[in-house]
Amino acid sequence: MKGLILCAGRGTRLHPFSYSQPKTLLPVANHPVLHSCIRKLREVGVHDIGIVIHPSQVQIPPLVGDGSQFGATITFIEQKIPLGIAHAVKLAQPFLLDEPFILLLGDNLLMDSLHGLTSTFAHAQSDGAVMVSEVERPQDYGIAEVKNGRLIGVEEKPKQPKSNLAVIGAYLFTKPIFESIASLQPSARGEYEITDAIQSMIDRGYHIAHVTTNGKYSDVGTIDRWLEANRWMLERELGETYHVGATSTLENCNIVGPVLIGEGCHIKNCRIGPYVSIQDGVRLENCAHIENSILLEHSTIQDMAWKVTDSVFGRSSHLTGQSADSIGVFILSDKSSMRLPAVKREEL
Ligand code: G1P
Repeated sequence: MKGLILCAGRGTRLHPFSYSQPKTLLPVANHPVLHSCIRKLREVGVHDIGIVIHPSQVQIPPLVGDGSQFGATITFIEQKIPLGIAHAVKLAQPFLLDEPFILLLGDNLLMDSLHGLTSTFAHAQSDGAVMVSEVERPQDYGIAEVKNGRLIGVEEKPKQPKSNLAVIGAYLFTKPIFESIASLQPSARGEYEITDAIQSMIDRGYHIAHVTTNGKYSDVGTIDRWLEANRWMLERELGETYHVGATSTLENCNIVGPVLIGEGCHIKNCRIGPYVSIQDGVRLENCAHIENSILLEHSTIQDMAWKVTDSVFGRSSHLTGQSADSIGVFILSDKSSMRLPAVKREEL
């Protein structure tokens, strides 16, 4: 079995962070989501992996290399125009050939393993399998219709969803998917939808099995969901503890886990946590309290009397301010700088 990970999407909902790097490289608990996808495939024994990228995503190949760091072999496939998931799969056909393959969306973080997907496929002797999960806003997803335990339909972002079971970004397909893809027309959003290809397989009499995951899942497609996925991952990896890179220094700090601090960071007179991930080379000084936030490489925060929460600090961004104590949400893009005015509490 092969693996295929899609990374070439536009990532517009994560601007400004996805301007400077593909969203599949945005770190969750300091690791790119893409690495987590590769590890998931390795866990179920898949090592021959194709990654679909846009030619502009030059940062991806060096961060993945030839795959040997994961025990995998990586083949890059270009998708020059993001015309949808099904279109990307079609482009990958020369790599996938006739083998069954697991398709993962590179911006989807799954806490569950893919064993459920592979074993459901094997036991049901089906022609494919999808992972589904209950979601709060079914209108935002491909939605499954299940009758008597069998998947009978899927609909992309329905206005009147038939269930709250979303087809999430983990699929297993066999060769007939390519015929279904060949018959597709672009959807209203101008994309070749994988949902339509699955529906076409069902209509042609193929059996697509489904497995429900209760494990957490996030399409890391918005800042809120990115922060949420970061919380889950930190909690899973660290519980209530914290980890500090060997080359980082902490002076007079109060850390409430889970908190992950990378290498080469200098942190002084700060209260941090819970749910904070700090990448390499970050400098923090005199920060009253930072919680539930992501700090990317080389960002700095100085003299913040505010409680900083639900915030993302882009690479090499800089925040400074001596305002009276309050609470603030900050989204600073890469290399940006913000200085807060010094105001007294009664002026706020
Ligand atoms: C895509 C798929 C959709 C699926 C979702 C999972 O949506 O088209 O069927 O439920 O991923 O994250 P998109 O992220 O393109 O809106």
